[in-house]
Order: sequence, then structure tokens, then C-alpha cells
Amino acid sequence: MTSFVEITQDGLVSTLTLNRPDKLNALSTEVLNDLRSAITMIGAKEELRAAIITGAGKAFAAGADIAAMTEMNEWEGRDFGALGHSVFASIEKLRFPVIAAVNGFALGGGCELALACDFIYASSKAKFGQPEVGLGIIPGFGGTQRLPRRVGPAMARELIYTGRMIGADEALRIGLANAVFAPEELLASAQKAAAHIATQGPLAIATAKRLIARGIEKPLLEANALEQDAFAACFGTEDQAEGMTAFLEKRDAVFKGR
Ligand code: COA
Repeated sequence: MTSFVEITQDGLVSTLTLNRPDKLNALSTEVLNDLRSAITMIGAKEELRAAIITGAGKAFAAGADIAAMTEMNEWEGRDFGALGHSVFASIEKLRFPVIAAVNGFALGGGCELALACDFIYASSKAKFGQPEVGLGIIPGFGGTQRLPRRVGPAMARELIYTGRMIGADEALRIGLANAVFAPEELLASAQKAAAHIATQGPLAIATAKRLIARGIEKPLLEANALEQDAFAACFGTEDQAEGMTAFLEKRDAVFKGR
């Protein structure tokens, strides 16, 4: 059966490509369900250490599927929002980092998908925006919450109230994107970063990912207490022994994620 999400694997890194280019990878229920299956599938692969999400064609994803949403009533809208939230939360719950390689339009749900990834690498052709209010709705897959946490409330307000599209350079300047690359270098750059992450201590990365996500919601003292416990737990792992021994022996560490 064909899927709207293509899954490939290169070594310890998997790449998920949204594959509905004729509709600019618009996120329909089917696309979101395929994305959920793909995330579940890569989450179950024990050897994986990082993933990349990108889009086929000229878009990363140009938003939730407007044609499908036109027909929705309030209850269906609630279900659709819940689906987007749960799929995007499953990206945050993966034990390994996910890089959004934003190759083109990342609008509405597409921008929200990129925000649910650990960080964003953008093509110089990327365009970001939350144009939902122009359709009489609000961002519904986390945009009102993740965007202000990423770029600050005032910038998020402006972007959401105006719906304006921003280019890669502005996305970089406001901290939405971490780096901008020539279009032909985007995927290779994301793969290089992911492959480097894959050489690091996998348990340590899983712990850091979880702590950053959880800690950001908490008062600093409470969050720092979480870090202290997690830091201590690192010393009970084989990865810690291997990482430090390898350093002292002047060799590359071979982590087992134990
Ligand atoms: N939902 C459903 N279909 C979408 C879509 C979306 N979010 N975004 C694009 N498409 C479809 C178009 O309807 C068109 O389909 P068609 O060929 O059957 O007519 C196809 O994708 C190509 O899009 P098109 O608008 O012709 O491309 P463009 O290059 O002229 O414009 C955009 C690109 C991104 C500016 C424009 O498609 C757009 O504004 N999309 C909607 C963005 C949006 O509001 N997203 C938030 C949704 S909550």
C-alpha cells in the first residue's frame, strides 16, 4: 500500500519524507496517520539514533488540508486537532532527536510540524508562516504554544495575528531555524548533523531530550532538580563508562545505549 510518508534509512539515521507533492504535502487525516505509523516504526528500531523529516517537491508542508477542513464541523475539528497534536507529540516522545529539514513552504500545520522537531535546518528557499487566522481558525497543531516558546511571545503574536510568511533568513534571525543552507545542501547538512549526533551517547541524548522538553515547563529550581537526578543516573550506565574510558584512552567511544 502506498504511503504519504516515505521512510529511508542510512546507517543509524532515518529520513521521513512527506510525499504528497501535488498538494504541497498538505496534512490530511491520511497523511497524519501515515506520519504516525512512520514515527511508530522508526521509534521501534533500536539501532536508530536520529531522524530527519523533510518534504518532497517545493513544500515541507503547506499546512493542514484546507479542502478536508472545509467540510468539518466542531466535533470533527476537535478530532482533527487531537490527531495533529498526538502525532506531533509522538515526535517529541521519540528517544532520539528529529531534525526538520525545511525545504520549502512550512505553513500552518507544516510550521507546527517543524516546531515539534528538535530543531530546524532551513533551505534558503524555505518559507514559514502561521496563516490560519486568514482562514478564520487558529493554529491547531500546537502553533499557539510551541511558536511563542521558540521565538518569544511578541514575535509569535505578530506572526499569528498577521499570518505573514517569512523567509529563511528571518526565520534564522528570530531563532525559528538554527541554520540556513543552499537548497541542494540542505539534506546533506541535516544528514551530517544527524550522523554526528548518532556518534554521541544515545542514553545521554535521550535523557537530554526528555529533560529539555519537561524542564522548559517548570520553574527553574524544580527543573534543575530533575537534571540533578538524571545526571546522577548517567553514572549507572555503560555509556558513561565507555565514553569516559574512550576519552582517556584517546579513542572514539563505541556506545551501546545501555
Ligand atoms: N490544503 C490543501 N491543499 C493545499 C494546501 C493546503 N494547506 N496548500 C496547497 N494546496 C494545494 C492547492 O490547492 C493546489 O491544489 P490544486 O493543484 O489541486 O489546485 C496545490 O496544492 C498547489 O498549490 P498552489 O496554491 O497552486 O501553489 P502556489 O505555489 O501557487 O502557492 C502557497 C503556494 C503555499 C502560497 C499556497 O498553496 C497556499 O497559500 N496554501 C495554503 C497555505 C495555508 O493557508 N496553510 C494553512 C492551512 S491551516
